[in-house]
Amino acid sequence: MDSKKILVVSFSQTGTVHKALENALLPFRERGAAIEMYSIETEKPLPFPWGFFRFFSIMPETVLGPSVAIRPLEIPEKDWDLVVLGFPVWFLSVAQPMKTFLLERKWLRGKTILPVITCRELWWSGYQDFLQITEPFVANILEPLVYKEPLASWKTYLSTPIYLVTGKKVFKNNAASWRETIPSAGNLFMESVGKKSFRFWARLIKHVSSRESIGRNVAICFFFLYLLFAIPILKLIGGVVQFVDSNLKGLRKQGGRRCNQSMSSVLESFYPIKP
Ligand SMILES: Cc1cc2nc3c(=O)[nH]c(=O)nc-3n(C[C@H](O)[C@H](O)[C@H](O)COP(=O)(O)O)c2cc1C
Repeated sequence: MDSKKILVVSFSQTGTVHKALENALLPFRERGAAIEMYSIETEKPLPFPWGFFRFFSIMPETVLGPSVAIRPLEIPEKDWDLVVLGFPVWFLSVAQPMKTFLLERKWLRGKTILPVITCRELWWSGYQDFLQITEPFVANILEPLVYKEPLASWKTYLSTPIYLVTGKKVFKNNAASWRETIPSAGNLFMESVGKKSFRFWARLIKHVSSRESIGRNVAICFFFLYLLFAIPILKLIGGVVQFVDSNLKGLRKQGGRRCNQSMSSVLESFYPIKP
């Protein structure tokens, strides 16, 4: 059996993407695939914990660009059978360092891509962002593998900002959880309204302030106040949407591109089961 060549390029700040990739790549490793892994690093190290102002102040550039500069990666231009791209969602978008890589790496042209996405709760808009960047030059995008925080939704909304801003974990969780490739109707509602409002705020904040200025800090205080009100209200309405959807079945609008191939079908085509 010829050994399939798999390229893995990832960005991870706190290791979750790497854990997700270990899990995703296991079936390929077990079948003897030749896997080469590359990690994206930013030119300037990212802070962790972020602290309140630094965390929120990257929202405008994460949503609208330009993204942070990354160190050059020496990836050989082989005839890769599969390219696996692992990245977290940041502010309902592709994390900035992966976005920079995608925009620079037009040689992904014609390849089959498996996105491995990690997030706390909301990933669909980040995935749409990914599709928008890659669709013009990538031949085939497989259904994403999504790794979500294994916590109740309300706990996630509380624990995520606290963890990212202060580095402290409010709730313990050790389990890994892989979810469906289609989010719930309630989360889809939250994401579509959330992404529109992030775009509005990102434009406004960029218009009134530059990066790392006092003006930016003032502007993000207003953005934070907006989030304090908006998240519970959207969560409440999202709950109603979810309830209606599960009772009427099929109200869910999936929006965006649907993939017609999954990782397991690629695995089967690489390593057919002999009769
Ligand atoms: C700046 C920033 C923004 C984030 N925005 C989101 C988000 O919009 N939705 C979400 O579910 N998680 C969000 N997260 C959480 C990360 O997606 C999640 O913790 C991810 O698993 C981190 O991966 P890593 O540990 O490999 O860096 C955000 C994290 C950061 C640092």
